[in-house]
Amino acid sequence: MATTQEYGLGEFTYPRGWFMIAESSKVTSTPQGVKFFGQEFALYRGKASGKVILLDAYCPHMGTHIGRNTTSYVAQDGAVEDDNIRCPYHAWRFGPDGKCNEIPYSCGPIPPAAKVRSWKVEERMGVVYVWYDAEGGEPDYEVPNIVEAGLPNWVPMRFDDLGELNSHQQEIVDNITDAAHFGPIHGSITQYFENEFRGQYAIQRMGGGHRTLTTSDGPMLETVATYHGPSILITHMIGTHETYMYIAHTPIEDGKVQVWHGLLVKSPNHTDKYTEEDVAIARAYQEVALAAFAQDFEAWTHKRPNTKGMYVLGDGPFLKQRQWYKQFYNPRAQRDEITKGVDGIYHVRGLEAAPKKEAA
Ligand code: FES
Ligand SMILES: [Fe+2]
Repeated sequence: MATTQEYGLGEFTYPRGWFMIAESSKVTSTPQGVKFFGQEFALYRGKASGKVILLDAYCPHMGTHIGRNTTSYVAQDGAVEDDNIRCPYHAWRFGPDGKCNEIPYSCGPIPPAAKVRSWKVEERMGVVYVWYDAEGGEPDYEVPNIVEAGLPNWVPMRFDDLGELNSHQQEIVDNITDAAHFGPIHGSITQYFENEFRGQYAIQRMGGGHRTLTTSDGPMLETVATYHGPSILITHMIGTHETYMYIAHTPIEDGKVQVWHGLLVKSPNHTDKYTEEDVAIARAYQEVALAAFAQDFEAWTHKRPNTKGMYVLGDGPFLKQRQWYKQFYNPRAQRDEITKGVDGIYHVRGLEAAPKKEAA
């Protein structure tokens, strides 16, 4: 693995943006410890509001991890009360704003510094997101959304937690511009390919045959893959079925990421409301999509870091993409300067441009 500095991305170790930190269904009123951006957090769902709460992990009293404890009586009796959480060691209680609001054994005042940071979180499409910004600024774009999620004729997304990958996220982001890997890795016969960079979006439009996601006598596989910021990739795919593939990669520490994969499938039987049979077909197709993603994953798992690529004609616009990616690792005030000359559509020698109907 290599670090952000070795890739020369910018002054911040972790990029600015919205990041997946959990599946909604896995966050309950039993606190859990999670690690992202090189730091520990306590994650739980408030009992009163049902909202997800993410706090810095370490109690200001004596440094106990608020989220990683199961054996104390505080934990056994339920550390979460309404939207508050109690530290297991001496039962100091913290509100969803991170401020200590009760020290059960002390008659003195609560010290003003008795607080932990409470992070900005949002839930959408069954995903819990945190906003991360080394400068501490407010979000400058919305949490990504797929409007079809929640429609009755789309089988709801199920997530595959792929665990940790010992690679820097740059290696994954490179995939969006990697025109030449489709044949060797995925068995695709790429007919058209182009990239577009626009603000926080990086888009790839691709069409062709595919050995696994469509059949030789079936429709062409056409995909529009869009990075919404530095870590969420949503791909609209029209092949054997119409789907959205969801990929999220969140840094655990510098040079290591947590990866999730999900698939939202339009009713394969074209019914107004998806059926049990649709669910079975969707889940089977998800396995195929996951197998295609695993082909990339295996290459990433064993490669050395690509801190200096040897690019040739026919490769995608890697250097533009890496320049686009730098906007998230540097102060916002420098963004326009960093992305100057990057926004636009790029074609690859030897491949057709995407048909104009494809709009992101
Ligand atoms: S260490 Fe948390 S209450 Fe004492
Ligand atoms: Fe790939």
